[in-house]
Amino acid sequence: MPPYGTYYFPEGFMWGTATAAHQVEGRNQNNTWYAWEQEEGRIADGHKSGLACDWWGGRWQEDFDRAQVTHQNAHRLSIAWSRIQPAPDRWDENALDRYREMLRGLRSRKMTPIVTLHHFSEPLWVAEMGGWENEAVVELFVEFVRKAVEALQPFCNLWVTINEPDVFMVSAYVEGVFPPGKKDLKAAVKVMHHMIQAHARAYHAIHELQPEAQVGAALHYRGFKPATWLPVDRWAAKIFNTLFNDLFPRTLHDGVFNTIIKKDRIPEAVGTQDFLGLNYYANDIVRFDLFAPRELFVRRFFPDDAPLSETGFIAHQPEGIAECVRWGSQFGVPMIITENGVEDSQDILRPRYTLEHLHALWMVMNNNLPVKGYFHWSLVDNFEWERGWTQRFGLWGLNVETQARIRRPSVDMFAAVCNTNGISSEIVQKFAPDAMARTFPLN
Ligand code: FCB
Repeated sequence: MPPYGTYYFPEGFMWGTATAAHQVEGRNQNNTWYAWEQEEGRIADGHKSGLACDWWGGRWQEDFDRAQVTHQNAHRLSIAWSRIQPAPDRWDENALDRYREMLRGLRSRKMTPIVTLHHFSEPLWVAEMGGWENEAVVELFVEFVRKAVEALQPFCNLWVTINEPDVFMVSAYVEGVFPPGKKDLKAAVKVMHHMIQAHARAYHAIHELQPEAQVGAALHYRGFKPATWLPVDRWAAKIFNTLFNDLFPRTLHDGVFNTIIKKDRIPEAVGTQDFLGLNYYANDIVRFDLFAPRELFVRRFFPDDAPLSETGFIAHQPEGIAECVRWGSQFGVPMIITENGVEDSQDILRPRYTLEHLHALWMVMNNNLPVKGYFHWSLVDNFEWERGWTQRFGLWGLNVETQARIRRPSVDMFAAVCNTNGISSEIVQKFAPDAMARTFPLN
């Protein structure tokens, strides 16, 4: 007789998927990513977001239906600053109406919305002013947040101010693969500083408008492990963990902005998180390498024994999500897994990836760690930034030419999890028998 049972999650746990405006809406020509897509060599295979999932054309309705009938009770989406404020002196009420309708659409389907206010893209006019390098962006962002929250608060009280400030800082200002494509460490630190100030001010602005609001940011957590015991490797891991993982949430915790070389204080940031959003995909091993000056002398790679996603972008290391939550718990606020998932057009690894991550999450939550929800990335395949359409993260697949949705086995796997409010041995047996050994071991 095989071992069987169910790992139940707490009552009221939020189950859903996450999306971002530029990745799903389509037809947004007034933002930094659209401009970036027009430049040669910026996006894999010259892909363009185009219609994306055509949410701006109204297809959010059918996708929200899909989410609802597959038992999701929450959804995390983002709104586009560039649509709401197309020019510094202009607010677009129609755009706000459109977002109101979407949020009403979630409510009427009994799904709790979480709204992200900045997910990797700004209006072109903000970029022309110097974007996040210009301190003026702090006040501008807060004005936008006020306007948006005023309009949308009847439908939402969970707000993510900024998605992955750490990834944004590194991709846009160190690696140069996101707009504005800089490779400038000093600029990167400045941008992070401004993002923390913007978050802190937005936090208070939202609470003034909606005292019962819950406000946080969504951080990309990546555990960096030293390749060897050598001090240079351990030092590299420490620097990466400090600058990438710790910098943002620690400053919100104690007001000390510690970039290792320099410590600043941002006192107004203290206590400005009601929850911590965590996006976890994979951990990295790091090794100091004198011959890699362009990567800051540090090579990053995945462990040999971890199964890789289709394009090698993610390595399956489910224990990392537990480590991520343990790490996140030091900030003393409830946590939400705001993203987790894998690119897999054939849906071979996704069921196992998801179920083993959820099992690891369940285990760590039993140490009395408050995690309030899990948002899978993503509902439908969508435009993956500089990787274009080469990566497929959806529970549903998307035919970009026809807009047809393709039902992957993972749709039913995730539906069963949401419906059960947990993972049962039947679910694992049915959708990912190769995950049985780890999730329901014999002893
Ligand atoms: C995260 C982003 C999200 C998506 C996933 C795959 O870093 O927040 O928009 O691209 O990765």
